[in-house]
Amino acid sequence: MKNILDTRLWHGGDYNPEQWLDVPEVLEEDIRLMKQANINCVSLGIFSWAEYEPKEGEFYFEWLDKIINRLYENKIYTILATPTGALPIWMQVKYPEVRQMQANRIRNLPGNRHNFCYSSPIMREKMRIINEQVAKHYKDHPAIIAWHISNEYGNNGNDSSCHCPECQKAFRSWLKNKYGTIEALNAAWWTKFWSHTYQDWEMIESPAPHGESMLHGLKIDWKRFVSDNIQDFCKEEIKVIRKYSELPTTTNLMGFFGNIDYFKLQDKIDFVSVDAYPSWHEEKEEINVAVETAAIYSLTRSLKRKPFLLMENTPTVTNWKKNNITKRKGMHQLSAMQAIAHGSNSIQYFQWRQSRGSYEKFHGAVIEHQGGEKSRSFKEVQSVGACLKDISDLIVHTCNKSEVAIVFDWENWWALDEAAALKEDKEYVETVLMHFKYFWEKGINIDFIDMDSQYMKDYKLIIAPVNYMYRGDYIEKVREYVHNGGNYVTTYWSGIVDSHDLCYLNERPLEDILGFHVDEINLLSNHQKVTFNYKGKQYLVRSLCELLSEVTANTLGWFENDCYEGYPAITQNQYGTGSCYYFAVQPEYEFLYDFYEDLLNKLGLRCDISHQLPKGVTVALREDLGEKYYFIQNFNDYKVQVALDKPIKKMPSHTLVSDSLNLEKYETVIVTI
Ligand code: GAL
Repeated sequence: MKNILDTRLWHGGDYNPEQWLDVPEVLEEDIRLMKQANINCVSLGIFSWAEYEPKEGEFYFEWLDKIINRLYENKIYTILATPTGALPIWMQVKYPEVRQMQANRIRNLPGNRHNFCYSSPIMREKMRIINEQVAKHYKDHPAIIAWHISNEYGNNGNDSSCHCPECQKAFRSWLKNKYGTIEALNAAWWTKFWSHTYQDWEMIESPAPHGESMLHGLKIDWKRFVSDNIQDFCKEEIKVIRKYSELPTTTNLMGFFGNIDYFKLQDKIDFVSVDAYPSWHEEKEEINVAVETAAIYSLTRSLKRKPFLLMENTPTVTNWKKNNITKRKGMHQLSAMQAIAHGSNSIQYFQWRQSRGSYEKFHGAVIEHQGGEKSRSFKEVQSVGACLKDISDLIVHTCNKSEVAIVFDWENWWALDEAAALKEDKEYVETVLMHFKYFWEKGINIDFIDMDSQYMKDYKLIIAPVNYMYRGDYIEKVREYVHNGGNYVTTYWSGIVDSHDLCYLNERPLEDILGFHVDEINLLSNHQKVTFNYKGKQYLVRSLCELLSEVTANTLGWFENDCYEGYPAITQNQYGTGSCYYFAVQPEYEFLYDFYEDLLNKLGLRCDISHQLPKGVTVALREDLGEKYYFIQNFNDYKVQVALDKPIKKMPSHTLVSDSLNLEKYETVIVTI
């Protein structure tokens, strides 16, 4: 049977009716307004633990039964959460060990949220009890369509990790499992450096500001452990649910979030969901924010290579950024359609109704303190609801496909950030986004893969920026991919360390297929200006240059000055039936644009709608069995005209347009050819 989740586009959001139990009219008013706004689902119970279990061992669900039933009578479904995102105060007071201990070994006081210890046996036991109660109680309720496991795992404002004695124990056993012997660990961590040799597992302590903070092997393994430990907790939460219910599970992710390897987490859940709060209007032009947001959605979609749910976004404004700027009129519609365009099957809000007190009382909501349907926020949400209803049947079964992938790898990110070399900020995500930007500007879908990916062969082009760490079977896969005809673009500061963060000696892996040897990498100071020439045009180096020797690859671009003069900056090498491209330089975007322009022409990759999209306009394609729907979006706050390469049909109206398409400010048009 088809899962109900796959049958329509969803419109809804986080709903916290437990805050309004003493004002029963609120529920009826909410239902009236939800129907007006075409809301078809809500997320409930995310922070309801204290309401479910006000005293240890006493459980109450009647309050929520009434709410779920009333919503369901009005055709509003529920995504039900496990409530571990925030712990009841009684629990934090009675069992101090459920609270996280910071890296400085100070235990947190009760309060806040997302800050429990993932290793604590008591925490795990309490989680099992509450999840069991919730799952048992709601297992057969027809209103429930999915399980929302916890909330934004790891989002506690620091490195997500707890350093308590239970976590030390769990970390040591994780290490034993990984290395087998203490000698193997010492070798992997290169502990003879500074006399750090460990004789016993018990000597190992997690990184700390007042303790070990420089042993790279330890620090990277700690990050891996924290990520694995959170995933293990998630698995345990789901195990309890599975005793009672087969409904799909998800947990809401946060895009380029540094503390959990989402490529690994994805296989613990049935479908992927994400929360996104783009900072629209912060810059004069929206392009950079649009690119970053499109990348977040593309990454989320790539995790399972399937549509996902946008679990949270704000209809208007956030309250937790340095500057909280409200979406201008029309931006909500554009931003919602952007999520759909890149693979979301829902637009869900944080939050349906603004709370009256405490930290989030000024966070945007569909229903604001003033109440009712008159607010701009409500009207904009209502128009998104109407649009989703209109396009639901057309879009829901489609997904984005791509012939291009960027390698984005969490472990590479961690290792790169730790490396004490060159400059503090390694700009990994920024660099990835810079490459992504070209494809966004050209209206070409792009996926993300990590180094474990088994899907390399599906892509015509793979871009691997700053692959500092080669891990797993990545080297062999790249070799095979290129040998069999793939096109591989990679850059400076790649292939430096193995998965233990130990530097490769002598020749680096893949140098043979790249066609050179790297002699040096150097950082330029602000006043050192180095340029390189590619196809007769001069480009400025951003800040890193490499010196290559023994070059057998074709040189496509040369350094022009300083000690680099005459050395290759950009190369291409044939290997098997494929090609490797290399940037021995950290370029500015201008070069990436020109380079990809040439490469994509060569590979015959282009957007079907137009090869000359105006600045600030992009196209994303969702398709299924020959049906293709192009989302053309104007991120400019002015009208534009798109020169069409072929006639198009606007959907769902079937209006034919040839030659050129007019797009209003912030407009999205869905078309087919
Ligand atoms: C998310 C969180 C929500 C809410 C929202 C505010 O990080 O999951 O509960 O706090 O932020 O933007």
